[in-house]
Amino acid sequence: MSESFAAREAAVLWPTYVRPPVVFTRGEGVRLWDANGREYLDFLGGIAVVAAGHAHPHVVEAVSGQLAALGHTSNLYFTGPQVDLAERLVDRFGPPAKVFFSNSGAEANEAAIKVGRRWAKATKGERAVGIVAAEGGFHGRTLATLAATGKPALHPTFAPLPAGFSHVPFGDADALAAAVGPDTAAVLLEPVQGEAGIRVPPAGYLRAAREIASGNGALLILDEVQSGMGRTGRLFAHQHQQVRPDVITLAKALGNGYPIGATIATAEVAKTMRPGDHASTFGGGPVACAAALATLDVVERLLDGHVAKVSEHLREGLVELAARIGPQAGVRGLGLWFALELGPDAGASAKEVAAEALDRGLVVNPVTETAVRLAPPLVVSEAEVDQAVTRLAGALAEVAP
Ligand SMILES: Cc1ncc(COP(=O)(O)O)c(C=O)c1O
Repeated sequence: MSESFAAREAAVLWPTYVRPPVVFTRGEGVRLWDANGREYLDFLGGIAVVAAGHAHPHVVEAVSGQLAALGHTSNLYFTGPQVDLAERLVDRFGPPAKVFFSNSGAEANEAAIKVGRRWAKATKGERAVGIVAAEGGFHGRTLATLAATGKPALHPTFAPLPAGFSHVPFGDADALAAAVGPDTAAVLLEPVQGEAGIRVPPAGYLRAAREIASGNGALLILDEVQSGMGRTGRLFAHQHQQVRPDVITLAKALGNGYPIGATIATAEVAKTMRPGDHASTFGGGPVACAAALATLDVVERLLDGHVAKVSEHLREGLVELAARIGPQAGVRGLGLWFALELGPDAGASAKEVAAEALDRGLVVNPVTETAVRLAPPLVVSEAEVDQAVTRLAGALAEVAP
């Protein structure tokens, strides 16, 4: 990358990101190419977004066809793809349910928090505004979703944040039971914590959360922004634990990179919202919905065995790498969503490993100080997994010999 590009960027963009010196210009399937024509294997997929792979022809055709036919009307008018997509999502979530469309994960969660409070005030009374979330959980960067995010270090800079949010240790049903009460509107959890390092809760945790919420007349809201859309091997991660949440949120992979968020609520909960209670200029626009419908076509086909098969192959490769690193290393995750935990004595940070991997043509990211995240497009093949594991092994051998 030419120095001038980084300098131009620094001159005109907020310094909120720290980027490696690569400019990506093209993608196809699991591969990316940079401005110098160098090829990379993308095992991050735009942070669990590009589920159908880069430039999937079915998605490209749906988006370009819809854009050519009708790009935008606002939500003041009916457009076809929004209803088509809502029908499809409601069918998969389980009817009766209703959807609100937005443009990102944070917005999908904002809508979930709003509908949760709207519902609780109507059913439990004005004081029932509490949202109980989990330590380490990540729900977004808007003020309310930042308040819901269980990373206290992120809070003081932007205080005062909206009130009413509290946090309990993730995976601990007793702690959750102790925190939920008459003033709780909703329990808000990720079924598997993504940004905390792909943390899978103990079996039965979500069912316990369901019972605790119901027992206190509160809602169970599951943030499936990162875990949804097939990432874990099921369309929604909560389907592994056979729970029926009241609300789920989706974004990231829903549009395969075309921005769209969705908040799906049971009809019982959704019916408390009134015209004017919530809105979005772009939310559920025809192009975003066409992208999501096409992405669902691709993802649902891949869930018919492909993801499970490649998942096992990737897990085996990572487990082998972890064994080479040392006794404190390990692998967390499921589906095509893994953290390679290096442990404290690996001799290198996850950041150093990811930087070296990039140098070797593999895109992964340090999800925590000590864990490298892999979330490749779901179309990834076993051969591509082998190539990626080889490149990651090379990176580890270089920085953590
Ligand atoms: C579980 C979860 N919720 C919400 C968000 C926020 O999504 P967005 O960045 O689209 O606002 C993220 C992003 O990483 C996430 O992983």
